[in-house]
Amino acid sequence: MPTPARPPLTPDDCRARDAAHAVADALRARFAPGAPDTLYFDANSIGPMPADAPARVAATLDAGWRVARRRSWNQTDWLDQPRLLGAALAPLIGAAGDSVAVCDSTSVNQYKLLRHALAAAAPRRVMVVEREVFPSNRYIAQGIARAGLGEVRLIDGAGDLAAALAPGDVAVVALSHVDYRDATRLDMGALTALAHAHGALALWDLSHSAGAVAIDLAGSGADFAVACGYKYLCGGPGAPALVYVHPRWQDAAWPALCGWMGHAATFDFAADYAPAPGVARHLVGTPAVLANAAFGAAADLWRDADMAALDRRHASLTDTLIALIDEQCAPLGVEVTSPRAHGRRGGHVALRMTAPDANVSALGQALVAAGVVVSTRKPDALRFGVHPIANTHAELWQAVARLRAILASGSWRDPRFAGEVR
Ligand SMILES: Cc1ncc(COP(=O)(O)O)c(C=O)c1O
Repeated sequence: MPTPARPPLTPDDCRARDAAHAVADALRARFAPGAPDTLYFDANSIGPMPADAPARVAATLDAGWRVARRRSWNQTDWLDQPRLLGAALAPLIGAAGDSVAVCDSTSVNQYKLLRHALAAAAPRRVMVVEREVFPSNRYIAQGIARAGLGEVRLIDGAGDLAAALAPGDVAVVALSHVDYRDATRLDMGALTALAHAHGALALWDLSHSAGAVAIDLAGSGADFAVACGYKYLCGGPGAPALVYVHPRWQDAAWPALCGWMGHAATFDFAADYAPAPGVARHLVGTPAVLANAAFGAAADLWRDADMAALDRRHASLTDTLIALIDEQCAPLGVEVTSPRAHGRRGGHVALRMTAPDANVSALGQALVAAGVVVSTRKPDALRFGVHPIANTHAELWQAVARLRAILASGSWRDPRFAGEVR
């Protein structure tokens, strides 16, 4: 445990840090409060709900479905939402507005973009994927390989990338910007440059960074990216995902899934497929209208956000959390496993138990029972997903106090916390 160079943090210090980062106060007021006496640190899983979201979904159901019915396709912007949401969210990830669309799930978009990259880089066939990446990303690549459309080369971490690229046969390197377990953030610019130096393209999964920290897709030269809509971006449970294609590749190939919504002239009902220009060719079928209505509430909120200021606030929040854990919980058997430098971390802070009978799942459940909503991932990660707008330093103090009480009493060993959780 690093020795603190200053006196331990106090609740007053946390309140002072909130005052120093008041930039988010007006935005925070646009989120609906959760349950009383409950502290939410689960933006890495489902971000907070904009207060406006229920009314928007209700209006879509009532005016859009009950009253206007099929006329809504003409009278409203339902069909434009994938493009409009993409344009609203693009600044958060450092992309041009017309390079991003919102549709389908992260997994489906990962499939589309891996296939797009393989087509753009042909005859190269190799997809480099991390062995420990979020499983869906690995499975998608394995499925593409099994269909005979490419080959998977697994690496044990970004440190192995140069060796994996050395044979000169790699089409695409697919990396998670931020690791879903310990929150390690990779250097997008440097690794993209490394891939490019070997003639490969770079596809980034921004699920654990988009909406949490500032991202510069265009500046990094990244070729493709996907991101979850329902985590820090607050699109709502099961929200559609982001798909980003750098302009240089947008028209390079037909999309992997050639649907009518990605056709150049959807309502011509032409005999043959012709891809829409730009990122829109990756749209496939009818948009998820209700989900997009909920996401629209978040998109409006993000339109008013300054991501650079929120990045600084996120750094302050997560630095504070790490200091509180070091000071109050390390002596009780919990340590921080995420990198210490904010530039090397993503949205959450991961903790690990050091006790011989450690059971992070039980500790996570005990925290949830104490009103601190966190998540866990096998084998040993306890994750505090910190939202740069919705969370406060004062909340961190309270959450760590509850964690400390659970560790001190050993109440996490209660048999009611022994079951499996999702
Ligand atoms: C890093 C990462 N990528 C991809 C996914 C899969 O997202 P979806 O289930 O929405 O396809 C997740 C889900 O949590 C994730 O954490």
